[in-house]
Amino acid sequence: MDKTVTRSCLALLMLAAASVPGRAQGFSGEHDYNFYCASCHGENGRGNGPKAGDLEIKPPDLTALKAKYGEFPREKLLRVIDGREALPGHIEREMPVWGVWFKLEAAEELGGAEGDDATVRRRIDGLLDYIATLQR
Ligand code: HEC
Repeated sequence: MDKTVTRSCLALLMLAAASVPGRAQGFSGEHDYNFYCASCHGENGRGNGPKAGDLEIKPPDLTALKAKYGEFPREKLLRVIDGREALPGHIEREMPVWGVWFKLEAAEELGGAEGDDATVRRRIDGLLDYIATLQR
């Protein structure tokens, strides 16, 4: 391959990578939020997403967490979003178990290997950083 061809291939690859959020660029909490969470919690976080009306439990207002708990309870929210630790007797949940979902996605990226928990953690951390900015 001559140099010009190699260079344009590289440029194309970089373009392709840039259009897949979360891969070459690292995960963005804002992107993940809009993609996975806004359908229920609303684009603005207030719990009024298009799917909210179909649920038995109304999706909580994610802009009022600081007001609700008196601080932004990051560790607690991390566990709620992850969801894999749910205790017996607390299994009623309408929200998807994101820890399982993100782990499956991590496995897919690694070509079917076991998904890694560090990636799951990074994604939930990104979401929490974004949700923290929504507090009123
Ligand atoms: C299918 C609708 C739905 C989707 C999608 C969804 N949630 Fe939820 N979420 C809920 C509901 C309903 C609750 C209340 C608890 C329950 O029933 O699971 C909740 C609870 C929460 C809570 C706890 C709030 C509190 O008051 O303590 C957080 C934080 C949260 N969701 C974040 C997220 C994030 C981050 C995403 C995207 C990765 C997401 N949710 C996607 C429906 C959803």
